[in-house]
Amino acid sequence: MTTQEKIEDMFARYEKIEAGGGAKRVGKQHDAGKMTARERINSFLDEGSFVELDKFVEHRCSNFGQEKKYLAGDGVVTGYGTVNGRTVFVYAQDFTVEGGSLGEMHANKIAKVQAMALKTGAPIVGMEDSGGARIQEATDALAGFGKMFKQNTLASGVIPQISAIMGPCAGGAVYSPALTDFIYMVKKNSKMFITGPEVVKTVTGEEVGQEDLGGTFTHCTRSGVADFPAENDADCLEQIRYLLSFLPSNNRENPPVYDTGDSAYRMDESLNTVIPDGPQMPYDMYKVIRSIVDNGEYVEPHRMYARNIITCLARMDGSTVGIIANQPRIMAGCLDINASDKAARFIRFCDAFRIPLINIVDVPGFLPGTDQEYGGIIRHGAKMLYAYCEATVPKITLVTRKAYGGAYLAMCAQDLGADHVIAWPTAEIAVMGPQGAAKIIFRKDPDVEQKTQEYITNFATPYYAAKHGMVEMVIEPKTTRPILIKALRMLKSKQEDRPTKKHGNIPL
Ligand code: HXC
Repeated sequence: MTTQEKIEDMFARYEKIEAGGGAKRVGKQHDAGKMTARERINSFLDEGSFVELDKFVEHRCSNFGQEKKYLAGDGVVTGYGTVNGRTVFVYAQDFTVEGGSLGEMHANKIAKVQAMALKTGAPIVGMEDSGGARIQEATDALAGFGKMFKQNTLASGVIPQISAIMGPCAGGAVYSPALTDFIYMVKKNSKMFITGPEVVKTVTGEEVGQEDLGGTFTHCTRSGVADFPAENDADCLEQIRYLLSFLPSNNRENPPVYDTGDSAYRMDESLNTVIPDGPQMPYDMYKVIRSIVDNGEYVEPHRMYARNIITCLARMDGSTVGIIANQPRIMAGCLDINASDKAARFIRFCDAFRIPLINIVDVPGFLPGTDQEYGGIIRHGAKMLYAYCEATVPKITLVTRKAYGGAYLAMCAQDLGADHVIAWPTAEIAVMGPQGAAKIIFRKDPDVEQKTQEYITNFATPYYAAKHGMVEMVIEPKTTRPILIKALRMLKSKQEDRPTKKHGNIPL
């Protein structure tokens, strides 16, 4: 062959690989409202930035006549590119090639980009669309999953790992996404389950459809497995680009800083009236969040799960913050098992990636009852305590109203390591709800009613805690944003060490 012929031959090979499973299967993919693997990558990354790796990799399985099968790229496209100019590694399973099933070489390609992302300190985004382990490849496929799980775990807390579930993701395949930081699911097309409806029926007798068992709504609302629902592939990928704008590329960098155009001195008169006069009346904590963050913008994992607590990433003064806030509109903002798990995981994510924490507190307590006790609220609630105590990023706590008992501590009181505690004059920081407390102390007192009122006046306020130095400032609500921003600026240089250990033993 001449040199020119060799170049042409190379391009012909490219073309064959890039055709994936062929026009018919690509058509089927499109008919289902799905992009192909390559379309997904190109739509996700900055235009023209994708560099493909291991394009020529092929399987080497000879079981069940597989040696006669040509599987383009072994069913997965891998490489790197940029998102808003920053390097990001990607892989996208190609459902048009043997159902995106995972064989030995397919897994090796993924594990290789996982390892490269880890050593270069860049985020990795996995686009999952697969029938699971390639059955013909038997335990070689299982070994492949094992390699990926190990890479996921090594990278945890070092680089952001994000999973986009854009088709089926079944069996053990679910555990790679489960080991990543955030899971997106595309409505209608994505499913995640350990075993499908047929197996469920055989083993337990339950009849359940795929959507109910493992669809987007199920995992975003009931199980909490997924963080973000997406309308379609394009929406999913756009959402991930936005999320990445809040995150550092790795745990050695600070999160990116933007000029958001929102003044650090902006006050908001409406915060002076957000707390209702009646202590049992709800209000919407999102109003407080929107008011204090830059341009009212935030991104919220688990928006539809454990809605009694809100966790979100936002910017203040152009820098990323992680907000954990009780939501008095849902279950009065009580902490329960799911809320504790959700908050603890979010706190640890922020701590791993140098994101300061702002804790907005209006919490009447932990949810009582046998459901919660039998479910292990003690164990789950302990995760929040652990996560806050362990976190060394700046921690600022703002008490807007109730902060009672153990839940007051669990929302990062000063003694759990809050660097700064601020309260509104409406704060009620107390050992327990004032009615209950007064009933116990004054139960034999004939003036119980009057004594209760006195208790409320003296103890259900921020001033007892402030007198004892547990609250540094009591502030007019409208000044919250500028005061928080001053505190964030002051805490930028915070350094705090922890005792050397292999790792702690967080209650799980
Ligand atoms: C080999 C597979 C495959 C697999 C799909 N295909 N899954 N090949 N191994 N796991 C092939 C199909 O044979 C078909 O090939 C092509 O991919 C497209 O699949 P279809 O069934 O035609 O597509 P669709 O109707 O959309 O159904 C998709 C599906 C279904 C729901 C994912 O394919 C399915 O149920 N697959 C098996 C899922 C499963 O049981 N996986 C568990 C594997 S064990 P042709 O040539 O006809 O186009 C496992 C354990 C891992 O994952 C443990 C890790 C720790």
